[in-house]
Amino acid sequence: MKQVPVITIDGPSGVGKGTLAQKLVEKLGFHFLDSGAIYRALAWGVLQQNLDPEDTAAVVALARDLPVRFEAGRIWFADTDITTAIRTEGVAAMASKVAAIPQVREALLARQRDFVQSPGLVADGRDMGTVVFPEAQVKLFLDASAPVRAQRRYNQLINQGVDANIDQIVREIEARDDRDRNRTVAPLKPAEDAFVIDTSHLSLDEVVAQACEVMRAKGINC
Ligand code: DC
Repeated sequence: MKQVPVITIDGPSGVGKGTLAQKLVEKLGFHFLDSGAIYRALAWGVLQQNLDPEDTAAVVALARDLPVRFEAGRIWFADTDITTAIRTEGVAAMASKVAAIPQVREALLARQRDFVQSPGLVADGRDMGTVVFPEAQVKLFLDASAPVRAQRRYNQLINQGVDANIDQIVREIEARDDRDRNRTVAPLKPAEDAFVIDTSHLSLDEVVAQACEVMRAKGINC
């Protein structure tokens, strides 16, 4: 049987993984896994139900039966549309906290692997190439300095008409990076066979071109 191709995109927050993933999904017609959205949905549930993130048993129980669904571009937690609600910094910070619990990661593994479906999958996260899909055909790791990522996030917020403070964004990004890189389970790091792209001084088109070059070398038409 022909293997379904999996392309993993890992890297720190605000590096442009989601934007690249979307471009590749459009180009290749593959399915998309936004693994961060699963951790964010869990975090949203923790906040909504007023759970103590230190109460590992309660958080793990919620992760095991997480009522999250991805449907036609929207994200649901049971009957609530959480598509925009999970994009706040508060939810992101809580996601990064609960994501450091080993049993939480274990509980969410099968659910992420279920996304592998013909004709292929683009998976975006922190441990896609290292833990969730170690057999992936193509592993990309995007990187950029924290100030560059903070500036992009700042521009995005200002463009949306949201009042933003650059120093606060830098602090938030650095705190989240620290937690994601230094946790004991599935810390953020490139897989040994990952292709690292530093996006600091590249346009989106240039990043896509590099990613496609890597894929063509692996026999994926891009
Ligand atoms: O990619 P994101 O910003 O939506 O992710 C939110 C948080 O979830 C991030 O700070 C760390 C965690 N996460 C993770 O631990 N593993 C993943 N594969 C994806 C996200």
